[in-house]
Amino acid sequence: MQEILDAVLSGDPAAMAGLRVPESYRGVVVRKDEQTMFEGMATRDKDPRKSLHVDEVPTPALGPGEALVAVMASSVNFNTVWTSIFEPVSTFSLLEKYGRLNELSKRHDLPYHVVGSDLSGVVLAVGAGVSRWKCGDEVVAHCLSVELEDPQGHDDTMMDPQQRIWGFETNFGGLAELALVKSNQLMPKAAHLTWEEAAAPGLVNSTAYRQLVSKNGGAMKQGDTVLVWGASGGLGSYATQYALNGGAIPVCVVGSPEKAEIARRMGAELVIDRSAEGYRFWKDEHTQDPREWQRFGKKIRELTGGDDIDIVFEHPGRETFGASVYVTKRGGTITTCASTSGYLHQYDNRYLWMNLKRIIGSHFANYKESWEANRLIGKGLIHPTLSRTYPLDQTATAVLDVHHNLHQGKVGVLCLAPGEGLGVRPEAQEFRAGHLAAINRFRDV
Ligand SMILES: NC(=O)c1ccc[n+]([C@@H]2O[C@H](COP(=O)([O-])OP(=O)(O)OC[C@H]3O[C@@H](n4cnc5c(N)ncnc54)[C@H](OP(=O)(O)O)[C@@H]3O)[C@@H](O)[C@H]2O)c1
Repeated sequence: MQEILDAVLSGDPAAMAGLRVPESYRGVVVRKDEQTMFEGMATRDKDPRKSLHVDEVPTPALGPGEALVAVMASSVNFNTVWTSIFEPVSTFSLLEKYGRLNELSKRHDLPYHVVGSDLSGVVLAVGAGVSRWKCGDEVVAHCLSVELEDPQGHDDTMMDPQQRIWGFETNFGGLAELALVKSNQLMPKAAHLTWEEAAAPGLVNSTAYRQLVSKNGGAMKQGDTVLVWGASGGLGSYATQYALNGGAIPVCVVGSPEKAEIARRMGAELVIDRSAEGYRFWKDEHTQDPREWQRFGKKIRELTGGDDIDIVFEHPGRETFGASVYVTKRGGTITTCASTSGYLHQYDNRYLWMNLKRIIGSHFANYKESWEANRLIGKGLIHPTLSRTYPLDQTATAVLDVHHNLHQGKVGVLCLAPGEGLGVRPEAQEFRAGHLAAINRFRDV
């Protein structure tokens, strides 16, 4: 592994040629024999530091159309929180299902699951039939794994019946020294970013792009008023940037004055601190309080000068969904990609049908949307929102931070990278300097 690292650090792609693929590598795993360890516990009390381990695991055999990547950095996504607490299902059930598909997918069904759905790094080896990428290429990987043998996915790759999220529904993910991906997951790494910055946007950037910008999601246009829940979090920090870039007017909801400050730093002017306002959309576990929806809607109108919301960027789910449907404008759209606070939503359907509102389900992004979102990172039009990084062996602490909502933006993990600040190409230094303040907006807040 040291030889690989030395070759990457030399900055010379040719130095990677002829390097031996190691027989094993260190990766962050959950173990199958521990998948029931949290049974009976409250979600919040399930501690990822008990379930996530850094284990030495065998390097998988490289199949046709695949690539093995030396991972310099990765980042924590909420899906690793779900995997680590075995909710809503143990991801071993997903690996077993994938394993039944064919001979190649069988490799993924193992008694351990190497997690992680983001990476930046360097291609170490490619399988038969790969011509677009070669050993030594500096890359990031999007997390869409598809087979495309059925026609449903041929227009929008997210519609493939065999659609999976790499590192969540497949094995050999990015929180590790090596990762196995399908070669069509690879995309160029932005030359002006460090390894840890480049690994941060991936999953959430692509998801926010589809959910808000793409015609498959909110199809946002200039002038739209966009309500962004969790505007300083993983998804929200990209949704806010897309709204501002696209000439829309984001109304950013956050949970503390510090987070409100970050939203303002991104350029948002309309910010609601939900903890200061003390919204209680649920009177008790079973009953919502429409007066609180009204109070929230009134606050939005106060900020917007009377406008209601064209698009709600939803992901908290049960706790906020009733309010989200209520505050949406006649004919407006609620786009949802998650249910962090609970997936059985309740809303008053009269507000939806009588006012011709629409709810759109959105999930990650297709190949094209992922490339479009990555292109904007490369052009310095969307910036990483990395707040801090952890070494690989402290990944579980990083995951706990995200589980308990103690983080801002994205939390990075250094995999092979021996420290922060490496990986910027010399020719991109000047470009980087021009964007440095924006790149560092979330650092150490
Ligand atoms: N379908 C997909 O493709 C996809 C992709 C990415 C993520 N997701 C899912 O989306 C969710 C968010 O992911 P993320 O990466 O953005 O996570 P994150 O970094 O934790 O950010 C989520 C933000 O939502 C806010 N929030 C949390 N609970 C809330 C509640 N009860 N009411 C209102 N706001 C709440 C928090 O902000 P404040 O406390 O500041 O308000 C938090 O910062 C997760 O469930 C994740 O699994 C789905």
